Amino acid sequence: MRGLFTLAMATVVSLITPSLAAPIVVNPGGTGSLQISELNTVNGTSFPINAVKADNPLRISVVNNFGGTSMHAWVTGQDTNGVVVMLSTDGTWYYPNPLGSTTPIIINATVAHPLGGLGETTEFTLPDFLISGRIWIADGELTFFTVSSADGNPQLVEPSAANPRDPSANINWGFVELTNTSEGGIYANISFVDFVGLVMGMTLTLNSGEVQKVQGLGAGAIADICNGLKAQSAIDGAEWGHMCVMSEDGTTPLRVMAPNLYLSNNPTAMYDYYTDYTEQVWAKYTNEDLTIQTQVGAGNVTCRVSSTELTCDGDNRGYPKPTTADIWGCNSGPFAILEGDNDIHSAIVPRLCAAFTRTTLLVDGGDVQPSLSSDSYYQQSPTNHYSRLVHEYETDGRGYAFSYDDVNPSSENEAGVVAGANPQVLQLTVGGFSSS
Ligand SMILES: *[C@@H]1O[C@H](CO)[C@@H](O)[C@H](O)[C@H]1NC(C)=O
Ligand SMILES: *[C@@H]1O[C@H](CO)[C@@H](O)[C@H](O)[C@H]1NC(C)=O
Ligand SMILES: *[C@@H]1O[C@H](CO)[C@@H](O)[C@H](O)[C@H]1NC(C)=O
Ligand SMILES: *[C@@H]1O[C@H](CO)[C@@H](O)[C@H](O)[C@H]1NC(C)=O
Ligand SMILES: *[C@@H]1O[C@H](CO)[C@@H](O)[C@H](O)[C@H]1NC(C)=O
Repeated sequence: MRGLFTLAMATVVSLITPSLAAPIVVNPGGTGSLQISELNTVNGTSFPINAVKADNPLRISVVNNFGGTSMHAWVTGQDTNGVVVMLSTDGTWYYPNPLGSTTPIIINATVAHPLGGLGETTEFTLPDFLISGRIWIADGELTFFTVSSADGNPQLVEPSAANPRDPSANINWGFVELTNTSEGGIYANISFVDFVGLVMGMTLTLNSGEVQKVQGLGAGAIADICNGLKAQSAIDGAEWGHMCVMSEDGTTPLRVMAPNLYLSNNPTAMYDYYTDYTEQVWAKYTNEDLTIQTQVGAGNVTCRVSSTELTCDGDNRGYPKPTTADIWGCNSGPFAILEGDNDIHSAIVPRLCAAFTRTTLLVDGGDVQPSLSSDSYYQQSPTNHYSRLVHEYETDGRGYAFSYDDVNPSSENEAGVVAGANPQVLQLTVGGFSSS
């Protein structure tokens, strides 16, 4: 009997594995293949007005620990007037202008900054404040487009990790996000919320001399995460392996999509992945309290499931059961924060979504959120195996793997942020931190 059972299981696994673990292979197209979404656009709020020259421009330095054959950097974002900008190689802002075209047109300006080879450091300077900025690094040349948006303002269309037909899909690229304003100073993060691509770490040096570092993923992390996802498909029969994106010739893993990004193109995928778990959570907290530590003025808030919703003391509304997609994205269904939601609601959403994402609601001590340390995250099934693997391969365990990764007990920090007033230099280390 046992032999037969093993054989049957092996057959099932081999039936599931090839299809569910098959990665996506890119097939870049032209302008007509662009997908335009919130994740790969910067929308200008006006046309160029005179830019303010900052007294203390921000130095960016890029260390190439990756090698590569044709490394380049780009800077994109909005200036202080909300106008779309890119950094030109002469050190000034370039303002993309589609001249009213409602079809995206390729940006041909000299905005690709060549980087030195393996072991070399290249510097450039941002001339002014930058909002919603990204520094892109690629081995090759990315294609950026500009298009006239509905309100007539220039819009920037960037490479998309979600689109295997994107014109830049076959290039190995990644970015860090940053905002630098006069009021707030600099805030930069490595985010793996939507995908992981070319790996990068960051070091911020402030004028005060303070140095902050986020090391990011290690050199071979993309292949390791892809292999981990394929192995997970073999274990639970879910589509994790599909989230790995391979080069056009099928040989090299280029990037890994987070499940929320994967679902944006495959809305019905993994629909019931969390259904049983959510039922169990609802059953448990029908009979006992779930305590949310808001970690702000509201202190501890007590929640209970009554009829179909989880309701919390002092909260302006309850929480229906989340779907898998709600849990992956943390911004839909019960996790959408709406105008008029009170502070308690806004504090509970991130903490509740983090608890589902990390699958800590049924473990011992999970009735107080957040309270458990990171070694209890992702230990039960189902869970966000993408987040689990991203954290596993982060050199220092830091870097957002989902949008509320900054929900932590007070003593811990899983976020990959550097921030401070009066920045002096932001250094990116491409290809993983070396031990030196
Ligand atoms: C920019 O506008 C487009 C519509 O033209 C929209 O699809 C996209 O989500 C907007 N991007 C952002 C970042 O809001
Ligand atoms: C780039 O060059 C092409 C061909 O000369 C031109 O049609 C297009 O408008 C240019 N793009 C921009 C943004 O100016
Ligand atoms: C970044 O912000 C600081 C203020 O905190 C300012 O001194 C500096 O000039 C800014 N840098 C850029 C490039 O905007
Ligand atoms: C990362 O920083 C950018 C730019 O400041 C910000 O828009 C984005 O929300 C941040 N991401 C996370 C996950 O905090
Ligand atoms: C909230 O509850 C936890 C666990 O019972 C406790 O450790 C913590 O001190 C409480 N916080 C506040 C502000 O009461």
